[in-house]
Amino acid sequence: MTKKTIILGIESSCDETAVAVIRDNGDKIPTILSNIVSSQFDIHKKFGGVVPELAARSHLEKIDLITNKALEESKIKLNEIDAVAATAGPGLIVCLTVGLNFGKAFALSLKKPFIAVNHLEGHALSPKLNSKLNYPYLLLLISGGHTQYLSVEGLGKYKRLGTTIDDALGEAYDKTAKLLGIDFPGGPKIEEFAKKGDFQKFKLPKPIIKKGGCNLSFAGLKTAILRIVKNIKTEQEKFDLAASFQKTIEEILYEKTKVAFQDFNKKKQNTNTFVVAGGVAANKGIRNKLIEVSEENNFKTIFPNINLCSDNAAMIAMAGLEKYKLKLFDNLDFQANPRWALDENAKFLKGAGVKL
Ligand code: KG4
Ligand code: ZN
Repeated sequence: MTKKTIILGIESSCDETAVAVIRDNGDKIPTILSNIVSSQFDIHKKFGGVVPELAARSHLEKIDLITNKALEESKIKLNEIDAVAATAGPGLIVCLTVGLNFGKAFALSLKKPFIAVNHLEGHALSPKLNSKLNYPYLLLLISGGHTQYLSVEGLGKYKRLGTTIDDALGEAYDKTAKLLGIDFPGGPKIEEFAKKGDFQKFKLPKPIIKKGGCNLSFAGLKTAILRIVKNIKTEQEKFDLAASFQKTIEEILYEKTKVAFQDFNKKKQNTNTFVVAGGVAANKGIRNKLIEVSEENNFKTIFPNINLCSDNAAMIAMAGLEKYKLKLFDNLDFQANPRWALDENAKFLKGAGVKL
């Protein structure tokens, strides 16, 4: 029996120090042998957001420990690892550097190939750890730093169809949570608040809903919420506002996904696979709404498992495995790239004066 490929993945682009070991299974879904994620919520909570310097210091302190844990749990021997994959961007440069350098040194010491992974490609391929997924497909990537519709045409081949022109969706959830007095990162809590509220109590705007193709905008919601929050007196009103925000987001994604389906179909890809990935893809209301719009438009929705939506290293190892199969190895002088885009030809679409 030939040995199955084993990849060690490392992720440190933001506030999660994560290491995972996965094993290829030929035609079947790869096996996650270990997937350790250490979050830094407690460090950044009092600042209401990630402090890069503190995040990097914590990555440095923990990366050894987390790697040992991942290796121990995987029950593999060091010499069974075929390659080391580490996130090289996008993300916070001081954080990326920790995992990237650690990964390079680890690969060098094992005398095995090193593979630099785009964090967003990790999210894009994360459903391959629980579902069969072939190229091409339409991807909606919804995370704390990015919100994009992309046509995924192969490994490393992305065409952006739409993007946010201001805040990322996860950012919009976190900012709304902050305004409601919920600790960072409040995204997941909004969903809980929303279940206890009446979405009809407050009306929120849906920026660029009827224009700009499948580009998105969320900054106007934050401004509207800021105005409403000043007059809120009861806990119930907070629940109502969270419910209204959740409902508005669902409706925006419903409308914009319809446009994205049309744009994707124009590319004559002959497929109806729609992948939704990134931290916000853990939101059940959003999942249900996207399943609804997919069914209405003859698309089949594929999500990563809930525990693989937010940042983790199994998805980095998954992207590493795909690159390993094509012998796409990197040199040890590969630089961290904090702005590494999936579609490097896509136009910059952020800030005032953007023409849609
Ligand atoms: O993908 P991710 O872990 O990190 C980035 O690459 O940005 O995404 C984190 C984002 C945060 O903004 C977090 O609040 C949001 O995903 N998030 C959620 C939920 N779970 C995580 N937002 C809404 N509903 C959730 N259930
Ligand atoms: Zn992420």
